[in-house]
Amino acid sequence: MTYYGCALREVETKLQVLNDEFKLGHDRNPIESIKSRIKSVESIAKKLEKKGITLNADSMEENIARIENSIFDIAGIRVICAFPEDIYRLAKQLTSQDDITLVREKDYISSPKPNGYRSLHLIVEIPVFFSTGKRPMKVEVQFRTIAMDFWASLEHKMKYKKNIRNQDYIADELLKCSRIISETDYRMQEIRWLIESADSAE
Ligand code: GTP
Ligand code: MG
Repeated sequence: MTYYGCALREVETKLQVLNDEFKLGHDRNPIESIKSRIKSVESIAKKLEKKGITLNADSMEENIARIENSIFDIAGIRVICAFPEDIYRLAKQLTSQDDITLVREKDYISSPKPNGYRSLHLIVEIPVFFSTGKRPMKVEVQFRTIAMDFWASLEHKMKYKKNIRNQDYIADELLKCSRIISETDYRMQEIRWLIESADSAE
């Protein structure tokens, strides 16, 4: 867990550096906020069970390898951005750094989930240097806009409530809102472009 905490800080610092650098040149922050979390031991155990992975009582090393090869989101970072274009630029800038390896990418912005969920998910690997040497660590990075985050928080509430009435109606409303939110995100981005181009014409 300590190792994962270190990996989280490394990736978070990289994102903060990119944010600061962009602010310097463009006078605005592409990142609204960053939230990090480490998966609890209970959640890891639950996920292992769901995936049908059993641990071996004798070998700690082997157990760690099994966990690391099957669960990629023990360390997770959520990056909330102002505009969709910020998401893609930051993701590209992060993954093109030479100590970062892109392990997996799922673009639920260009291809939203059937329920309307939108976000860009990356699994990246980063070497963390300890006294015993360097160790590659995986971190899940979720990028989404403020509006997508608003949607995901509300949808998440429904997922973990059992026996709610009007479930179909709620799911339908969420899907509709997801479309409106996406359209609004891109329209807001265009408005910003218009404002900026008016700026440069002055
Ligand atoms: P997990 O076993 O859930 O981690 O699935 P996965 O490894 O296939 O990853 P995926 O990239 O599809 O989603 C991982 C994470 O994205 C989840 O743990 C959630 O934080 C978030 N997520 C994915 N789908 C949804 C969704 O429909 N609604 C919400 N609110 N969050 C979602
Ligand atoms: Mg997950």
